[in-house]
Amino acid sequence: MSSESYYELMPSPWLQVPLEDYEGHMNDPAVQQLAALADLFGEAFHYCQPPSVAIFGIAGGNGLDRADPRIARRIVGLDINPTYLDRVRERFPHVEGLELHCMDLAGQPITFLPVHLVHAALVFEHAGTGRCLDNALAAVSPGGSLSVVLQLPSAVESGVSKTSFASLQSLSADFAMIDPVWLTNTLAGRNFRLAQETRRALPSGKAFWLGIFGRN
Ligand SMILES: C[S@@+](CC[C@H](N)C(=O)[O-])C[C@H]1O[C@@H](n2cnc3c(N)ncnc32)[C@H](O)[C@@H]1O
Repeated sequence: MSSESYYELMPSPWLQVPLEDYEGHMNDPAVQQLAALADLFGEAFHYCQPPSVAIFGIAGGNGLDRADPRIARRIVGLDINPTYLDRVRERFPHVEGLELHCMDLAGQPITFLPVHLVHAALVFEHAGTGRCLDNALAAVSPGGSLSVVLQLPSAVESGVSKTSFASLQSLSADFAMIDPVWLTNTLAGRNFRLAQETRRALPSGKAFWLGIFGRN
């Protein structure tokens, strides 16, 4: 089975993970990733100053407060789990120009208008680099950017760390690490050039990599 048909046929384990579990896990002292992810989105936003932005795998809207509404007049949030999007709506009622779309980024083509910045943090590890990556590239307007956060391999921790939130372990089977060098070379072949990169160490011993790619 090709990786694309795998992602199209298998029901997403994310539909079984309550947002409270996901955020509890990501905030657990053994993980501590939510604040780092919000910071990295803030860094990408600051670097790109995008008039419009799309966040792939927005979950509960972590980091959305870093998008300055005076700069980004349009913010598109996408996720496969509709209950996550409901929470984004509840948490950010004041954000004008917020468009939320529930869709499977690995199985359906995007239909929204392209944006100046697409941000995808810890999404390709779960949704693959087939249609989900195609969607991310298609969503970037000419002259726009794609920012990607990848989890780097760790000698001390597994891909999905163990915490008291058992539902998170259902995600391990579909989690695949992505090499930043592979991504950079793949995107170069698709007219996206690496403009900026950052490595962010985490207290757990893991690390994130942020790459910002400009569309040629
Ligand atoms: C690890 S979380 C990333 C959270 C967020 N980017 C952050 O910075 O906190 C992955 C998110 O991607 C979503 N997701 C996973 N597979 C997806 C798919 N095929 N289509 C759309 N969203 C997906 C999950 O529901 C989850 O909200």
